[in-house]
Amino acid sequence: MAVRVLVTGAAGQIGYALVPMIARGAMLGPNQPVILHMLDIPPSAGALNGVKMELIDAAFPLLKGVVATTDVVEACSGVNIAIMVGGFPRKEGMERKDVMSKNVSIYKAQASALEQHAAPDCKVLVVANPANTNALILKEFAPSIPAKNITCLTRLDHNRALGQISERLNVQVSDVKNVIIWGNHSSTQYPDVNHATVTTKGWRKTMCIRLHGEFITTVQQRGAAIIKARKLSSALSAASSACDHIHDWVLGTPKGTWVSMGVYSDGAYDIPPGLIYSFPVTCENGEWSIVQGLKIDKFSREKMTATANELTEEKSLAYSCLA
Ligand code: NAD
Ligand code: LMR
Repeated sequence: MAVRVLVTGAAGQIGYALVPMIARGAMLGPNQPVILHMLDIPPSAGALNGVKMELIDAAFPLLKGVVATTDVVEACSGVNIAIMVGGFPRKEGMERKDVMSKNVSIYKAQASALEQHAAPDCKVLVVANPANTNALILKEFAPSIPAKNITCLTRLDHNRALGQISERLNVQVSDVKNVIIWGNHSSTQYPDVNHATVTTKGWRKTMCIRLHGEFITTVQQRGAAIIKARKLSSALSAASSACDHIHDWVLGTPKGTWVSMGVYSDGAYDIPPGLIYSFPVTCENGEWSIVQGLKIDKFSREKMTATANELTEEKSLAYSCLA
């Protein structure tokens, strides 16, 4: 049976990169038919229809239908997976929380539509910034959606960390495993390599990685660096990472490997409950679980607390924007 996948903001630049990836099977596998639901706002209706025309023209064998609409109820009806990209991106010189007032109100409004019209077990991934706080607002205004089903994208940061290690150590990116992004998808995130490994067949052994300082700031600032270079925020890497996030959540993480996902904190690693915080997770049977028992040194603890504190501040700022 076809899986219904909602992409909001589908006429935007991430949407344009993401929908063909989904239609080709990059998100749910090469044998899973999909029906795409694409939502945007009325000023973008023409462009949205153009994306629909291109999807038809591409004749994707797995694509069993396309709903392109500016009606949020029609967009959310019966969806099994919701990828929430709709919103406004930051421009050069802005921090992600600078787009807060424009974007959190969208997430409050769309929470109710998802709660009432999506499939009861719908999995939600929030991409639009500030991603963690938008996801939290969506969760709080859709109380009947299980907290476990609402996540935000930090897989892009996770993949950026893998990419930086591969470049710096001159190893294949596929041989690098188990980096962690802790906390907020912002410049306070903590890319942690204390538990990461590189395994190369040539060496036939697993090495622990030691990288600090400039590696951390490069990953933290990568979104800003892309905006500076492109004059637009990241799109193909964001779309690809959103596919990875849902792929692993639905189909599972390989044995011995974890990924980073922004999920509702239950107090693990002494992170305050009630935040959407990025943790290392493994996935099995469509459920994520936080990797337990990792040793946290003093340096890491300070960084993990700093990014949690920023999320607590963002939460109160979000509520003041909604008041
Ligand atoms: P974009 O401006 O190209 O596209 C956004 C689309 O959202 C536009 O088509 C716009 O019309 C639409 N939109 C606005 N309000 C909407 C609403 N209420 N309902 C539905 N659609 C709506 O932006 P983009 O480059 O595609 O980025 C989208 C978001 O993703 C931004 O907030 C950006 O900062 C964020 N982002 C997050 C990550 C991440 O890793 N979490 C990475 C890159 C970008
Ligand atoms: C990114 O990390 O590329 C996005 O969140 C866009 C941004 O504002 O940095």
